[in-house]
Amino acid sequence: MTFIGVGYLGATYAICYAELGYEVLAVDVDPKRVEDLSAGQMPFHEPGLDELLKRNLAAGRLRFTTSYQEAADFGDVHFICVGTPQRSDGMGADLRYVESAIAPLAPHLTRKALIVGKSTVPVGTAEWVEHLVEKYADPSLGIEVAWSPEFLQEGYAADDVMRPNRIVWAAKTEWATAMLHAAHKGVFDLASTEDREVPVVATDFATAELVKVAANAFLATKISFINAMAEVCEVAGGDVTHLARALGFDPRIGNRFLQSGVGFGGGCLPKDIRAFQARAQELGAGEALRFLHEVDLINLRRRAKVVQLSAELLGRRPGPAGPDLSGARIAVLGATFKSNTDDVRDSPALAVAGMLAEAGADVHVYDPQGADNARRVHPELAYDKSLAEAVTDAELVCVLTDWAEFRNADPVTLGELVRQRKIIDGKNCLDGTAWAAAGWTYRGLGRPAVG
Ligand code: UDX
Repeated sequence: MTFIGVGYLGATYAICYAELGYEVLAVDVDPKRVEDLSAGQMPFHEPGLDELLKRNLAAGRLRFTTSYQEAADFGDVHFICVGTPQRSDGMGADLRYVESAIAPLAPHLTRKALIVGKSTVPVGTAEWVEHLVEKYADPSLGIEVAWSPEFLQEGYAADDVMRPNRIVWAAKTEWATAMLHAAHKGVFDLASTEDREVPVVATDFATAELVKVAANAFLATKISFINAMAEVCEVAGGDVTHLARALGFDPRIGNRFLQSGVGFGGGCLPKDIRAFQARAQELGAGEALRFLHEVDLINLRRRAKVVQLSAELLGRRPGPAGPDLSGARIAVLGATFKSNTDDVRDSPALAVAGMLAEAGADVHVYDPQGADNARRVHPELAYDKSLAEAVTDAELVCVLTDWAEFRNADPVTLGELVRQRKIIDGKNCLDGTAWAAAGWTYRGLGRPAVG
């Protein structure tokens, strides 16, 4: 099998499917990325993948190339794993990379093959891919298209690929379904050796495409719901972390994705809820997803809240253009959109760091993995090499990604390094009472002030 595109999605799938025993060839237009991966160098941080990459390269089951010709010759099943970012001119998804995956692959195909879409796309894309295949491939070969969305979470990506909680696919013929079965046999076999079952939802193209964006819309809504409750707790004097805990015991609600804080970010949730709204609007169902606009607004308001709280804690008055934080030394702990990744795409932590700097603060960022990526987006910020360095002389510390290193930080030791013991817990991941006991003024989001 081949994987077209070795970004987060494609590289993870290629490596994990080789680990499951498949012969895998992965294609990308970026020669540097292909060279690095071929040499066993991961282009991003994802727990466990380093070792799996090296092991499967050594076993000869995994190769990387820039040649579509080679991919066409090699594969019976081709997974499309290219990115579908937000368009620069609107909220919709940019599908140019999907076309630039099919256009060079299809003309080189010389035998019947299955092209499987994995990228997150607007509903209707699979039909469009069929037309692209008709346009670019030899029609006598009977190349078919199927769709099978992925649900991997960064930080758990290898497990999510090899041990998925469900597989969703859409295929139009028995041949395509049989190919999909064969292409997932490794996943099913692993499950049966571990005494698990992987449910398969076989459906139509439109539903398969919708499942992914619907899942992400639901997760985003759940996070914004609890963050909306945080807003209410802030004015009513409640504690959103207790509220979330109490809600979570109801099995109909569940406790996952109810962590309040600075909101969601990453390469998927923010762009997917916007693309979903744009597509629904095009299809005439815009009203049905109008609530997602609120979900987005609630999410973005949490970032502004951290800036406002910073101003309050530093005793700065809001000016006409927002608070003036000029000269204030602030340590921002965390740049990535969540812990255990080096991904800073649409990261709330980095966005807040940028907003604090914009307001005049002298911002020192520390992130265990994300500094290199963060520097590319916000070169104006200072990036320190250690937690201790970042907090030294700080008048305020903001914890904005819940890395274990921050959760486990000792308030007494840190208290000796800072100029003022003031901390904002943007992930509600610290024990406020313990920090207050060490002399800190602690502020969580949606929680009563402590200290
Ligand atoms: C998400 C989906 O979970 C995954 O199924 C899909 O395939 C891709 O998008 P990912 O972007 O890796 O995965 O991150 P996820 O773990 O879902 O977190 C998204 C954001 O929400 C992060 O910024 C995280 O910090 C935030 N979050 C998550 C909260 O603020 N509160 C929560 O309770 C959970």
